[in-house]
Amino acid sequence: MSIDGGELRYRLGERQPKIALVLGSGLGGLVEAVEDPLRIPYVEIDGWPVSAVSGHGGELVCGLVGGVEVLVLSGRVHAYETGNAAAMRPALEAVKGLGIDRLVLTNAAGSLREEMGPGSVMLIEDHINFSGLNPLIGEPSDARFVGLTEAYDVEFRAALTASATDENLPLHRGTYMWFSGPSFETPAEIRMARLMGADAVGMSTVPEVILARFLGMRVAAASVVTNFAAGMTGAELSHAETKEMAPRGGEVLARILSRALPRMVA
Ligand code: HPA
Repeated sequence: MSIDGGELRYRLGERQPKIALVLGSGLGGLVEAVEDPLRIPYVEIDGWPVSAVSGHGGELVCGLVGGVEVLVLSGRVHAYETGNAAAMRPALEAVKGLGIDRLVLTNAAGSLREEMGPGSVMLIEDHINFSGLNPLIGEPSDARFVGLTEAYDVEFRAALTASATDENLPLHRGTYMWFSGPSFETPAEIRMARLMGADAVGMSTVPEVILARFLGMRVAAASVVTNFAAGMTGAELSHAETKEMAPRGGEVLARILSRALPRMVA
């Protein structure tokens, strides 16, 4: 289903955001960083995918972050909600339709690295799609053969890294591995993920990266670590923990983004 871009354009009035930001589980607090916010609930936009996952907002928030006009997607639909890995396609097409060709994706993730504990932020440099899913399955055009050699924009990564340095905040870098979820991984799967080169694991972001590259958008992505991955501490994992821990790293990420966004639209 495609979204009536005219209606969305009308709702935004004079505002002309050039970059969009997708907020992950428990990261709705980043909306607090938006100045002069214009809020549009997803349910008011015909065809907009709405997540039923707790800890996820459900609105577009347009306003200023670091002095830059941003369109924030507070809440996203996950492939595990319906089995549809392309669930976010109408939303990303609508964003692109507004003339926005830059996208920052955020998520909550489990860490595979001892030195990257809960509250850490990891810049995603590359990913491993371990879900068996792909949002472009069924896309009939040759455009489906999207190259992902440089999926995560080099200049965006440099902007985020420099901004973290300026703010004197630690920013880890690594590879994010997409598991479909919604169950968490087993300790054996985490040992495998480590052998395969993953630094963090999660249940989102990769399908949106693929879709955004398909749509010709430039992409950056960051994980907020909410827990050590399964088997690393012996503790059981839970969504409650994800929601509780995400705001910690979310604050760090908000500060880095406030500095980075002006560089990313320059
Ligand atoms: N695994 C998958 N997804 C997650 C995790 C995890 O450990 N933590 C937060 N989201």
